[in-house]
Amino acid sequence: MPFLQPKVTPLPPGIDLTGKSAVVTGASAGLGLETARQLLTLNLTTLILAVRNESKGATCIKNLLQDPAIKSKKPTIKVLKLDVNDNNCITTFSKTLPQTLPTLDILILNAGISRLKHNPSPSGHEESVQVNYLSNALLLAELLPYLNASAEKTGSPTRITWLGSRMHQTMTSFPKKSPLDTCDSVLEYMDGGDTVSPLYRYADSKVLCAMFMYSLAPRLDASKIMLNMVCPGMVDTAISDFLPIYWRLPVNLVKAVRARSVEAGGWLIVNAAVVAGPESHGRFLEDKEVLEVSKYIRSEAGKNVQEKLWEETMDELKKLTTLPREFE
Ligand SMILES: NC(=O)c1ccc[n+]([C@@H]2O[C@H](COP(=O)([O-])OP(=O)(O)OC[C@H]3O[C@@H](n4cnc5c(N)ncnc54)[C@H](OP(=O)(O)O)[C@@H]3O)[C@@H](O)[C@H]2O)c1
Repeated sequence: MPFLQPKVTPLPPGIDLTGKSAVVTGASAGLGLETARQLLTLNLTTLILAVRNESKGATCIKNLLQDPAIKSKKPTIKVLKLDVNDNNCITTFSKTLPQTLPTLDILILNAGISRLKHNPSPSGHEESVQVNYLSNALLLAELLPYLNASAEKTGSPTRITWLGSRMHQTMTSFPKKSPLDTCDSVLEYMDGGDTVSPLYRYADSKVLCAMFMYSLAPRLDASKIMLNMVCPGMVDTAISDFLPIYWRLPVNLVKAVRARSVEAGGWLIVNAAVVAGPESHGRFLEDKEVLEVSKYIRSEAGKNVQEKLWEETMDELKKLTTLPREFE
């Protein structure tokens, strides 16, 4: 990975999202909020900010509607509560969304965290496993029938873009310490207090996301649902603000030289969600290019872990919801 990141070009002219609707999770800050803003500047008609803090969401709506590039377009923007660290909240959100929005064109799975410390989620899983991975698997399980029905009604596929990280290829513990060598269960390995080194925790959670996306995409009817994953590179957001000061200082120095602006990061997410074509279905986009499946995920060990992860995730989801046919 070169130290300096390539320059990102803006979105091509002529994108018009008039009449379309979108949901962005974690839309109250950083890349989620910027993606929401850019979709609105492209004439998106209806936007749902799926956020854990509703009053922060309301402030975002106010600010978005005052943005000179959006103001005159008069979009409908609503907040729906979604705390992806809380499975009950995910289920309530999944039931409320179809009542609020009869059809959905674009779903951006953006909410995410980066953590060094092992921190249990109320779900019983480690927090980054829950927030970055399992919450999205549950959301997709609960929303798939609605997303399929949306595509039938609108006559074009519902687009899902999930935020991943290219670090899943480089900063992961999986190839060095395959979970199956040390633990019977992939999720148990990830949830363990001392199994995953803090430096690998974030990228390992994103390995789970990539594996799940690779397993799910072939099960979807691509004429109804198009799913891809994108990494916008290092972007100057608050995602590293959790770091202790002695880490934050050097990281902030690197970010000052290397990180992309939030606007450039947003271009890459919007590109994945509305510009990239069917060739991106089931693929990981590094900036705008399709990235080859990692050497580890292609290896025998990686394939075994991916299969095991799918089975374990289905077992988890069965406890929480009714599985859609694509998950069976
Ligand atoms: N920044 C990068 O360099 C980079 C690179 C590659 C991928 N990504 C991915 O991009 C996504 C967005 O990251 P970011 O850089 O924009 O981070 P950020 O500035 O920290 O924003 C994270 C967003 O996620 C929300 N969130 C966190 N926990 C949540 C929860 N339990 N329920 C609902 N929402 C929650 C936050 O809500 P609050 O406003 O309430 O805190 C915030 O809106 C993440 O998935 C990240 O992994 C980022």
